[in-house]
Amino acid sequence: MLPRRPEPCLMVIFGASGDLTYRKLIPALYDLVAARLLPSGFAILGFARKPKTSETFRQEMRRAVEEFARSRPIPIDTWEDFARRLHYMTGDYNNPADYRRLQQELEALSPAGRSNWMFYLATPPEVYRPIVEHIGSEVTLQRQGGWTRIIVEKPFGHDLDSARALNQHLHRWFREDQIYRIDHYLGKETVQNILVFRFANGIFEPIWDRRYVDHVQITVAETLGIGNRGSYYERAGVIRDIMQNHMLQLVSLVAMEPPAEFTADAVRNEKVKVLKALRVDTSRGDGTVRGQYGPGVINGQFVPGYTQEQDVAPDSTTETYLAMRLMIDNWRWAGVPFYVRSGKRLPRRVTEIAIQFKMPPLLLFSERTANEIQPNLLVLNIQPDEGISLRFSAKVPGSGENIQPVIMNFSYNALQTPVPDAYERLLLDAMLGDSTLFTRHDEVEASWSVIMPVIERWQSGQGSFLEMYRAGTWGPKEADDFIAADGRSWRVL
Ligand SMILES: NC(=O)c1ccc[n+]([C@@H]2O[C@H](COP(=O)([O-])OP(=O)(O)OC[C@H]3O[C@@H](n4cnc5c(N)ncnc54)[C@H](OP(=O)(O)O)[C@@H]3O)[C@@H](O)[C@H]2O)c1
Repeated sequence: MLPRRPEPCLMVIFGASGDLTYRKLIPALYDLVAARLLPSGFAILGFARKPKTSETFRQEMRRAVEEFARSRPIPIDTWEDFARRLHYMTGDYNNPADYRRLQQELEALSPAGRSNWMFYLATPPEVYRPIVEHIGSEVTLQRQGGWTRIIVEKPFGHDLDSARALNQHLHRWFREDQIYRIDHYLGKETVQNILVFRFANGIFEPIWDRRYVDHVQITVAETLGIGNRGSYYERAGVIRDIMQNHMLQLVSLVAMEPPAEFTADAVRNEKVKVLKALRVDTSRGDGTVRGQYGPGVINGQFVPGYTQEQDVAPDSTTETYLAMRLMIDNWRWAGVPFYVRSGKRLPRRVTEIAIQFKMPPLLLFSERTANEIQPNLLVLNIQPDEGISLRFSAKVPGSGENIQPVIMNFSYNALQTPVPDAYERLLLDAMLGDSTLFTRHDEVEASWSVIMPVIERWQSGQGSFLEMYRAGTWGPKEADDFIAADGRSWRVL
């Protein structure tokens, strides 16, 4: 199949002097240009308050590409092709006059055939509102011809009310089909592979339900602490940073029904149905264990505790670890717990989804042999070792009746096909007008609705206590007790 190529367009990046632009957006756009996936009429206009010229911007972006692009070395002609598409203007996000200048700049850079405009909000969320309003009122109001789209970074809201308010604000100026809410997890190959694995194989989907599945475990573990993002993390915690978005996206992809067709709305309709049937199980306690890391050792290095990090209050109660038991009240999943956990400063960086099937009826085998049997386990490794593994029981060769678990492994590395970065895939999709891998307004609100009762219980003092764990361990001991109370245990990773 020929690669898809978008129409020519101009991309405006607000906050172009920032970290996301430097580490992710520009390297991904360079890789797309280097792979000849963007047309010659594609150009980038960076907008931010820091004064600099287009030439300085190009020099800085050259360093970004050298550091972070996938396709290296950087041939001089490819760089020059990319550099001539880079422009920069200094402006204030709150000043309407600067948006009128932006409009003129866009018109000047838009010869016939390059009149499609894409806006990327790569600033902190505090300035999303004025930017959206000024684009709508000063830049695009009088526009005729060409498409206009807007990409909104996470975090999308701080709670359900602010997410709703931001949706309403966006809808004042843009139609839903023009809005692309990005969750970069959805751009990962292995996350997209969840749907292919489930719906392009005849043998797994028929057993993907409460008759055969005992439980599901999803782990998003990081070794990193919070770096210099203390002031953001203090307000977010792991519940807003990972659970509300990435984790619930993974849950909905694992649990959704097959869509009638592979279109953006058909896929997202099914995901929304899962989110609406999803709840944190409060049949025992509040269904959560939350923790915060103290000092410890990771990879042989001493690391400070959370409250000793930069921009963190010494008496902070922000959680850096969270485990939850989720239930999905529908015909497919009723009664099957989804255990999810995520934390910082854990011993390994790993994201995986484990589907544990029920034990087989064991009457055939002697009691001793039966004890050796482990249930089938299917693991979808999302990162870093992307792949799939299946555990099943096999006979130990010899005259005895001994059984051992064996594991069949598929690794993406074995394909030797380069895996594009998530931002490459998502930026290209947005330019192509394909919103399948972007979050729809009702999806964002439905996932906040799952999370809000937990936040409210914590705020009212009725939720779980904040437990401490040593950096470099798998979270607080209470998390082990939590799952052990159901007769299960966390996977050892
Ligand atoms: N960095 C990542 O890897 C990453 C990953 C996922 C999501 N995100 C999201 O992407 C967005 C941008 O992230 P980032 O890391 O690039 O942020 P950043 O570096 O803190 O900010 C980007 C730019 O926005 C402007 N800015 C910063 N604080 C501002 C404020 N209070 N008011 C107005 N302008 C301000 C600054 O440009 P000027 O001062 O020059 O205007 C800054 O260079 C955020 O919403 C973030 O949550 C980032």
